[in-house]
Order: sequence, then structure tokens, then C-alpha cells
Amino acid sequence: MLDLHDISLTFNENTPDEKKALQQVNLTMGKGEFVTVIGSNGAGKSTLMNVISGTLIPDVGFVNIGNKKVTGLPEYKRSKFIGRVFQDPMAGTAPTMTIEENLAMAYARDKKRTLRIGVTKKRKELFRDYLKTLNLGLEDRLTAKVGLLSGGERQALSLLMATFTEPNILMLDEHTAALDPSRAELIKNLTKDVVDKFNLTTLMVTHNMQQALDLGNRLIMMDKGQIILDVKGEEKQKLTIEKLLHEFKRIRGEQFESDRAILG
Ligand SMILES: Nc1ncnc2c1ncn2[C@@H]1O[C@H](COP(=O)(O)OP(=O)(O)OP(=O)(O)O)[C@@H](O)[C@H]1O
Ligand SMILES: [Mg+2]
Repeated sequence: MLDLHDISLTFNENTPDEKKALQQVNLTMGKGEFVTVIGSNGAGKSTLMNVISGTLIPDVGFVNIGNKKVTGLPEYKRSKFIGRVFQDPMAGTAPTMTIEENLAMAYARDKKRTLRIGVTKKRKELFRDYLKTLNLGLEDRLTAKVGLLSGGERQALSLLMATFTEPNILMLDEHTAALDPSRAELIKNLTKDVVDKFNLTTLMVTHNMQQALDLGNRLIMMDKGQIILDVKGEEKQKLTIEKLLHEFKRIRGEQFESDRAILG
């Protein structure tokens, strides 16, 4: 479903600010694989997602999504294959539009132009059914402006909007980080449910190691623009935070530098 081949990307090359954000990254993900991604600040996690979404074009290497070569394809042309939720609850939704308008926009993403006509009665029913699965009562607030929702509610809506078109790839970039612990737990559980329900191929960045262990069937650790650890299947099930920290120390010969990652 996803194939990243030998991806390298350097910011501000040949200047004093030069930053090798990705260095020869290879990653292949099969349909339904759910990869959690950990690594310190600046490790290249968001850059990797930006390369997949087409926000950034790599200097070297290629990106395939579902056997389609998309390396040079602009972001808007990839958006129908990709669902994405960001850390900032404000980022994924339009605050001045209503819940149903936001959903209609997301719903039209992968449809032909002729099908993109506003909020029909049938669609309203569909949206109501989807919203019910969140258990937040949003199905009774279809015409409420999204700007009035709490962060947790908006993130739940963002998650729904990113997934109900069953994208080839779902990318979650610290999408629970801005929420209080109980809302973060709620979004974590919703994530698990929706990924299972649609068997979505998913990449999830988190600084919460426990979350990285609890969710998904594969875990990768990034450091300095490289994937330094890749654990799947039974080995992933047996992982513990202690083992992860130990692995990091073994590979890098240093303590895991981000206390945020350790405290998570
Ligand atoms: N547009 C940009 N221009 C210049 N440097 C950038 C740009 N975007 C990212 N970088 C740099 O590339 C490196 C990787 O950044 P990236 O955002 O991918 O890290 P990250 O792993 O997502 O970190 P965090 O956990 O803090 O979100 C960092 O050193 C960052 O400063
Ligand atoms: Mg990031």
C-alpha cells in the first residue's frame, strides 16, 4: 500500500542552516498495517509524513501509494488517497463552517465533481450515523459551527473526516498531544476502532511511548532522519518502554534525549 524507497531530504542545503531531515529512508507497508512512529524532536517524523502527503518533495528517492507512483504529484492530487490528522485541533476542520458542511467537504474529496453537491437529506442521515459512532452527541449538532466545539470534539471530527472515505493511507501526527488525558484516551480508542473497522493502512506519530506500544502492529523509531528500529508482530507485542529505551541506548550509545518522549 505504501512504498518509500531510499528517501532523502535536506533543508537549506549548503548553508549554515543545512539540516538532513531524512536520510535514505526505506519503508514498505502492506494493506491494514498500523505503524506507530516514535523519536525525539527533530527526528524527521513530520517530514516523513509531509513527503508521503506531497507537502514536501524528496531530493532523492520515490514514493508509491497503492502501486501508483506519486513522488512528484502535488499534494492536492494525492489528497484523495490520504487522510491526515494533525496535533492542532484547529488544523483539520473549518471553524466558520458547520459540522455537516465540514463533513460534506471531506466526503466530496474522493468523489467525481458531479457528486459534490452540498448536504443532501440522504447525506445528512449518513453523517448522523457516522457521528453516532463517536458517542459524543455530535449527531444532534449537525448545524453547529465547528469553531464552537472543544478540542477533543474537533479532533474526533477530524479523525472521522480523515477516515470515512477509507483512504489508502491514514496519517496521524501527534493527534492526541493537545488533549487532556481523558480526551486523549477517547481519541486513542476511536483511532483503534476506526482503523480496525476499515482495515486502514496507518502511520501514527506519538511521543507517548505507552500509546505507541498499545496501538498498532508495528513500531518504528526514528532518529536523525533515519529509521533506527523497526519491530513487528509478536516482537512488537512483547515490547516494553524499558526495552525501547534500552534499544535506543544500544543503537545510539546515548540516552533517549527527549524527556517528553520518556514522560509520555
Ligand atoms: N520547512 C523546514 N525548513 C527547514 N528546516 C526544517 C523544515 N521542516 C523541518 N525542518 C527541520 O528538519 C528536522 C526534522 O523536522 P521534523 O518536523 O520532521 O521533526 P519531528 O520528528 O516531526 O519532530 P517533533 O517531534 O518535534 O514534531 C528538524 O531539525 C527541523 O528543524
Ligand atoms: Mg513533528
